[in-house]
Amino acid sequence: MSGNDIGAISAQIDSEIQGVDSSQKLDDFRVKYLGRKGILAELTGLIPGLPKEARSSFGQQVNLLKNKLNTLIVEKQKTLGSGSGARVSEVDIGMPGISQSLGRLHPITQVINEICAIFKQMGFLVVEGPEVETEYNNFTGLNIPLDHPSREAFDTFYLKLPGCPSGGKQLLRSHTSPVQVRIMKEKKPPLAVVAPGRVYRPDAVDASHLFMFHQIEGFVVGENIRFSDLKGMLELFAKAVFGKDIKMRLRPHFFPFTEPSAEMDISCIICKGAGCSVCGRKGWLEVLGSGMINPNVFKNVGYDPEKYTGFAFGMGIERITMLKYGIDDIRLFFENDLNFLNQF
Ligand code: DAH
Repeated sequence: MSGNDIGAISAQIDSEIQGVDSSQKLDDFRVKYLGRKGILAELTGLIPGLPKEARSSFGQQVNLLKNKLNTLIVEKQKTLGSGSGARVSEVDIGMPGISQSLGRLHPITQVINEICAIFKQMGFLVVEGPEVETEYNNFTGLNIPLDHPSREAFDTFYLKLPGCPSGGKQLLRSHTSPVQVRIMKEKKPPLAVVAPGRVYRPDAVDASHLFMFHQIEGFVVGENIRFSDLKGMLELFAKAVFGKDIKMRLRPHFFPFTEPSAEMDISCIICKGAGCSVCGRKGWLEVLGSGMINPNVFKNVGYDPEKYTGFAFGMGIERITMLKYGIDDIRLFFENDLNFLNQF
């Protein structure tokens, strides 16, 4: 076979490729020339039988022909489009895939879920109240007097809503305690309820204040509910959230909706009570407010205060989360910085 024959084959290829108009025909074309028993294999097989001086130039021409065929086939594949298998040669199936990163719950949501699960285990019902509340449910029903500073516009966001009855002012709830009023008006004792959710206060933003944050309110009403029930339950709760070695104490306090009232402290998570900068050398960290529900609240919701007693407690979720994980700036929760959020 001579170089001229190769020229003829090359010309034949040029004309044949024109007629290829389907993946099937392209496949037949490829097999005819590049297949194991194809024309190029045949040409290559001739090389050992050629005179020594002709071998190398013949071999080179066969190679050129092979390259030309490969180029023509790839180009034809492109013009034929994505017929099945036509693009396989362009995709490296050995390449690692693009991994999808998994989303997760926000740390505040995680802690809300964790705390609600603890109370559910103790038999509490989890409910949610609206963020837009009446002045009555947020203050009056809770025995908060008309001249109480928390009612001032610089402590509460009041709303001017179209179509709102003139007598009832609307506001963004400043705590989750109004859920007590809602539920007690609706249901009869015995009751054990926790209510997580957002609350709003017009505070200047700094490392420990935001104008929106989260609280969980809890309350129990029944016959013969005692202060010791509150204390026992809070101790269980503190150990479940912060670990069984944590100590708790109750300090006398005042809230209009509870009497007597107490704040709960836990032993400092950092120094275990010895005194450090986190606890201000006190060895204790304030965690929540609580107390026995004030009989005036029972009167406001139509419960007989002679028959029923109960306790209530309320806590800030951001504060609990910050204590639990040693976070020193509340603003981190809402900056959507993935480096921060991915730690949880
Ligand atoms: N509502 C209070 C606050 O926002 C927290 C609180 C304190 C709730 C004592 C209670 C309670 O139910 O008994 O600061």
